[in-house]
Amino acid sequence: MAKTTTTFTCSACGASSNKWSGRCDGCGDWNTISEDTGLSTSGPSGKASKSIGARRGSTIELTDLATEEAPPPRTHSGMNELDRVLGGGLVPSSAILVGGDPGIGKSTLLLQAAAQFANAGLKTIYVSGEEANAQVRMRAKRLGLADAPVKLAAETNLRNILTTLEVEKPQLVIIDSIQTMWSDTVDSAPGSVSQVRSAAHELTTFAKRNGISVVLVGHVTKDGQIAGPRVVEHMVDTVLYFEGERGHQFRILRAVKNRFGPSDEIGVFEMTGRGLSQVTNPSALFLSERGEPSPGSVVFAGVEGTRPVLVELQALVAPSPHSQPRRTVVGWDGGRLAMILAVLESRCGIPFTGLDVYLNVAGGMKISEPAADLAVAAALVSAREDSALPEGAVVFGEISLSGALRPAPQTENRLKESQKLGFTSAIAPTGGKTIDVNGISLNQMGDLTAFVGEVFGAG
Ligand code: TYD
Ligand code: MG
Repeated sequence: MAKTTTTFTCSACGASSNKWSGRCDGCGDWNTISEDTGLSTSGPSGKASKSIGARRGSTIELTDLATEEAPPPRTHSGMNELDRVLGGGLVPSSAILVGGDPGIGKSTLLLQAAAQFANAGLKTIYVSGEEANAQVRMRAKRLGLADAPVKLAAETNLRNILTTLEVEKPQLVIIDSIQTMWSDTVDSAPGSVSQVRSAAHELTTFAKRNGISVVLVGHVTKDGQIAGPRVVEHMVDTVLYFEGERGHQFRILRAVKNRFGPSDEIGVFEMTGRGLSQVTNPSALFLSERGEPSPGSVVFAGVEGTRPVLVELQALVAPSPHSQPRRTVVGWDGGRLAMILAVLESRCGIPFTGLDVYLNVAGGMKISEPAADLAVAAALVSAREDSALPEGAVVFGEISLSGALRPAPQTENRLKESQKLGFTSAIAPTGGKTIDVNGISLNQMGDLTAFVGEVFGAG
């Protein structure tokens, strides 16, 4: 008889323990641990493993590392933004997780992708656990995809889904969403950590064994109330996050893990009345709302994956009425902002004590590159000194704690994109390769003090 065990699982990080506590040892979150009664899932077979010595296994055939392997064949959806993020198209038998906030546009994206892949010749099934077939059809009609040869199902019972897949033998199946799926081998509610984990495990192993590519949609909730897709991340080959701000129409599909391609690639989309349309020139879009150069505004020449992206950083510095001044960041890391403020204060003698600091990345873009440091520092000093940067200038470079500037990768890529968008000069760190791009004068500096002195006459 299968042994029933009681474990306690954290809904934020998925860590399990055999006793309840108010705070998760794994991630440190409070009140996220709940009881998880289900069959023991200690091994893939569901049985607790016995001592190795008791029974011998068979020997595994070993191969050489140097064996030549042909690159996997790929199917192109025809949506370049999606294909690039996947590493150049969809790999057969691959498992992909698409995570994102509710309402951000995951179902829209995947219905469009399903239609494209189906039109490209893949037998595609779209299973919705959230919407009725009629709703999905209505959406498809609005998106102009009603004729695509996609098969639909509204189902949440995993056993029925797997049986259907076995019979239908599709090449691609989309499960929207993994939180609604329900497996009868685990007796806890759909959406709980053990259900999500078990459903994702069954789907991905089944798909791999049968040569099916599977896309799992996962909702992320900020407070971790529903099992986050994090528990699924390690089971899949590719993890994509669909991000964006509700008030903005831009959506960014970001690869955070990819066994079949680079993991920092992004695809940019725009949410329109007729679904998501691709943005082939994101820099132009992100800079489209920019006016005359003004204090606190700086254009950062960034790189996301293989593609350069120019974005505007905006800073506002104002005397604080509070004893503890505010530090508010949108689209960048708050910790990194604190670091830049500390470096400006201790290395360049520009204090921000008693001042509220707001930093915003325009257009709803999120930046994680360290090369944005110098652009952030430039925006902060520009706002504080009420002095705009020279017209037509872009900025990039990493700042170290000593105040030294470190060269950023892909300088040439950044300069070319800047030139293409009509910028005429770039402020960047010294060092690295000497790069000459026509039409851009490169102003290189070794440390932050030199930068502040030269650009703002301050420090
Ligand atoms: P949806 O794909 O349902 O989000 P998710 O699956 O991530 O929860 O998208 C929901 C939002 O997208 C909804 O607020 C309406 C908007 N939307 C459009 O603006 N245009 C469209 O063509 C579609 C289908 C949706
Ligand atoms: Mg949805």
